[in-house]
Amino acid sequence: MQRINIAVFASGDGSNFENLATYFNAGVLACVSLLVCNKSDAYVLERARRLGVASAVVTKAELQQPEVVMPLMRRYDIGFVVLAGFLPLMPDYMIDAFPQRMVNIHPSLLPKYGGKGMWGHHVHEAVKAAGETETGMTVHWVTPQCDAGTVIAQRRVALAPEDTADDIARKEHLLEMEHFPKIIEDVLNSLSDIPRL
Ligand code: GAR
Repeated sequence: MQRINIAVFASGDGSNFENLATYFNAGVLACVSLLVCNKSDAYVLERARRLGVASAVVTKAELQQPEVVMPLMRRYDIGFVVLAGFLPLMPDYMIDAFPQRMVNIHPSLLPKYGGKGMWGHHVHEAVKAAGETETGMTVHWVTPQCDAGTVIAQRRVALAPEDTADDIARKEHLLEMEHFPKIIEDVLNSLSDIPRL
């Protein structure tokens, strides 16, 4: 079977991008072939250079233009899209182009602590403020509504009352590093075919 080309969309540090590229690019099932980033100074671009993964900077305004993004998807024969810390909302034309082929990772147990403004440390601070006894990560299908698509998988971790928001972030991040690649691998293995764009 042909390897599935994955495009990762990211906005910031890119630890998930690196984890996914390292995991998949050593195997035969799939390959992280392209990084799309909306910020020209994001550290994730440096990671892509180091790993030898092609990257493209696409601004938030350019993201709205299919004539900018779709040729990139075709050039790298992208069959699956992963949003890993990508902050802009995905436009409808991308969601239509990748039906059941685009997933997002969110750093809480959705539907808790999701929606507009809930990203990164904002999520962990809200979890701390609410006195939650556990947190976790969610992988879900991408739909036009923010953080609202069907949940594919969740992983959870217990919190102690003395955990700070930083401790919560660290615990949740460990879950992402351990489980996200495997969850995507299971999804890819469950797909019957990957339509060409
Ligand atoms: C991850 O924790 C991811 O769950 C979160 O951004 C971080 C990106 O880290 N996503 C969201 O908050 C989406 N609402 P990374 O850039 O190191 O992969």
